[in-house]
Amino acid sequence: MNVFQTFKHRAEEEEQMDRPDSDAARLCRTLDQFHQINVLFSRVRGLLKRTLLQDMRPGEAYHLLDLGAGACDIPVWLLQQAEKKGVQLRITALDADPRVVEYAQQRYGQTERLSIVLGDALDLNAYSPFEYVFANHFLHHLPSEQAENVITLAGRLASRGFVFSDLRRSPWSYLGFSMFAHVYRNSFSRKDGLLSIRKGFRKEDLRVEPQVKVRYSLPGRIQWIHLTS
Ligand SMILES: C[S@@+](CC[C@H](N)C(=O)[O-])C[C@H]1O[C@@H](n2cnc3c(N)ncnc32)[C@H](O)[C@@H]1O
Repeated sequence: MNVFQTFKHRAEEEEQMDRPDSDAARLCRTLDQFHQINVLFSRVRGLLKRTLLQDMRPGEAYHLLDLGAGACDIPVWLLQQAEKKGVQLRITALDADPRVVEYAQQRYGQTERLSIVLGDALDLNAYSPFEYVFANHFLHHLPSEQAENVITLAGRLASRGFVFSDLRRSPWSYLGFSMFAHVYRNSFSRKDGLLSIRKGFRKEDLRVEPQVKVRYSLPGRIQWIHLTS
């Protein structure tokens, strides 16, 4: 099979980090490395500044749901940015893995306005009302039908909008990350990172409402964005 065939469909294998019996120390090291990966490669901070943070009005109070929040580096940064803007932001950071939630609580459990919660993102209605939904590198953990459901529910429930940012499935991303990823040792980052790119998305993979903007962005990202205002 040629390399382009390999990337035609989403891979279905399970990531090591998603196995309940995977090594806890390696899992925590992986979560630490996500912070660096997010800062270096995801460009998620700029995306959030241009979308959700720009949408928030100084003096107003909002509730944001972060799905698959991991070690919570992004919600903590978002809270700092909101405070600088004079926005009263409250974030519920949801993750389905108890080990991840415990690690995030150790690091950021004392952060004001941040609730770190064990729960399944598919039950996001349980955390309503909220104005915004956000997720970074989370959707690729789900089968396509579930990912569609999460986006649809977010569209129904988030009164001001949502941003989902994830990995674009492409041989070029795979090649690029494979050249860099050897720096990540004693963790799942390299192996899971490469599998995550194969589990990533192309625009045609998910059916979403027509008002949702679906865009590719460099390096190797795909985003689903909807703001109601
Ligand atoms: C690749 S990590 C991304 C973490 C974080 N958003 C970041 O960008 O650093 C994906 C996270 O999604 C969580 N996750 C997977 N399936 C989930 C589900 N159904 N509901 C909530 N969290 C889930 C995993 O436990 C993991 O912490």
